[in-house]
Amino acid sequence: MCGIVGYSGNKQAAAILIDSLKRLEYRGYDSAGIAVFDNNGMEVYKEKGRIVELEKDLPEISGFIGIGHTRWATHGKPNKINAHPHASGSIAVVHNGIIENYQELKEKLSRSGYEFVSETDTEALAHLIKYYYRDNLIDAVISALKDIKGSYAIAVLSGSELVAARKDSPLIIGLGEGENFIASDIPAILKYTRKIIFLDDMEIASVSKDNVIFYDTDKNPIEKKVSVIDWNLEAAEKSGYEHFMLKEIHEQPRALHETFAGRISELEGKITIDGLNMTEAQIMDTSRISIIACGTSYNAGFLGKYLFEELSGIHVDVEIASEFRYSHSIPGSLVIVISQSGETADTLAALREAKSSGCRTLAITNVMGSTITREVENVIYTRSGPEIGVAATKTFISQLGVLYLLVLYFGKCKGKLSQERMSRILIAMKQIPSHITRLLNTKDAIKKFAETVSSSSDVFFIGRTLNYPIALEGALKLKEISYIHAEGYAAGELKHGPLALITKLTPVVAIATKGLTYDKVVNNIKEVKAREAPVLAIADEKDSEIEKYVDEVIRVPTTEDILSPILSTVVVQLLSYYIAKARNCPIDQPRNLAKSVTVE
Ligand code: F6R
Repeated sequence: MCGIVGYSGNKQAAAILIDSLKRLEYRGYDSAGIAVFDNNGMEVYKEKGRIVELEKDLPEISGFIGIGHTRWATHGKPNKINAHPHASGSIAVVHNGIIENYQELKEKLSRSGYEFVSETDTEALAHLIKYYYRDNLIDAVISALKDIKGSYAIAVLSGSELVAARKDSPLIIGLGEGENFIASDIPAILKYTRKIIFLDDMEIASVSKDNVIFYDTDKNPIEKKVSVIDWNLEAAEKSGYEHFMLKEIHEQPRALHETFAGRISELEGKITIDGLNMTEAQIMDTSRISIIACGTSYNAGFLGKYLFEELSGIHVDVEIASEFRYSHSIPGSLVIVISQSGETADTLAALREAKSSGCRTLAITNVMGSTITREVENVIYTRSGPEIGVAATKTFISQLGVLYLLVLYFGKCKGKLSQERMSRILIAMKQIPSHITRLLNTKDAIKKFAETVSSSSDVFFIGRTLNYPIALEGALKLKEISYIHAEGYAAGELKHGPLALITKLTPVVAIATKGLTYDKVVNNIKEVKAREAPVLAIADEKDSEIEKYVDEVIRVPTTEDILSPILSTVVVQLLSYYIAKARNCPIDQPRNLAKSVTVE
């Protein structure tokens, strides 16, 4: 995610803003900028790339109040024009999140004479605040926020006024002596203060050097509690979590929320996918899809195959990118490459191969401006925010989110999916982020099972149909971070060989959520139990049968059958995490692995 800082005090603001932004560098960004006000007016400086690039051209700026930002591109390329702050006259804004109705606002404001120079959603907000501005910034911000749909954490500067507000994106206020701060993350300002106020959704703060006043959206003053942070800097970077992986697992509700933002209208039962750029006729003509990816992204693609085939009737091949170039791509088919980083060399090579064979190409990625996005025809962004732990977690969940959107969209165009079913699934999809939050609050059973199996040498993950790719993902997560040998198997395949390995020393994780193959998976569970394997089942919360057959059950909230793989994913991620933790493994940087694999 992007980083926000703000300062009002008796020191030079520019130096403090730059220093605070540098403390957010670990989160990843592609451009940076600051706006500072002094008696001569407001000055805005921004640059593509690292903060040192911004610093290089900064003149001496005097001024005691300002805002700053590190941007992780979501709307528009990573470049200087799209970097924040965005200004409208004397108002400057930095923003994290997504303004879903920015196109609509842009059209309205353009008709009123406002000129847009960037491709960002944030610029619409800057103009909207200016549109409402009379002589009081807080009133203008409150009016503007009433018009916007989406998520935001913002800091707004106008003259000597500084305002902060949030909805679905974190923002804090730091209290100092004769100075006060705004930040999206604690590490940004920990050097200056440990006294923090966490802004809640729909709250607004007016920040000056001596005072911070909090309001609700009707401008009623509200009382806020001050927390004193005792974390060290390293803990603060991880928001108090022990590892980035655990933090990123907990960020999944928000990541998925962003993935869906502006793309689902559950009321109308409709999906809009920015970046797809295919007409209904082109979708009707698509009879074959190849999904190409590596590792975790491959597992997401594999689930995509099941979904596409069930809901759109289109035949899908899923291929490991490093093998694709040796197979024969079919000209005219749609090739979807999935890559969190957008830089994976094998996936890039496969994309080039597909293009040279005359295939239409589409990428699902998290990194705007990455090599794959520059070479592919169309891109859909996952919008998970930067992922720091080497093991992919939140980006996988967001990849699944995009795949569900695509599949439903294709299924509807192809006439294979009724409006009634589509509407039902969309309503359920919107609830998935809060189901994940619920799951994350019930970790004890997962921890307990993790401890009992942490000394095992082999673990099996089994599942059928939609749960088979999640079994593969569970096994991949476990082997990469805990170094335990793990296998993901289609449960029905066990008896064709691997059953020979099952003993009381090989724990089995069985994904047994309700659905088409539930009874068959229960039979497979009985097969492994008969060989005395300890079994953990991932099952529906309403399943009152399963505990008869297994040693431990982790329950996931009830949802549409086809969506339950998203919830089971969270369980296998946490399980892998707690097993690796019990084994004292370096979870965020497993041996021999890199976050971005740019060699073939
Ligand atoms: C596993 C993991 C890797 C990546 C793979 C592809 O946790 O992160 O398996 O999924 O290297 O990377 P991307 O998605 O960046 O192409």
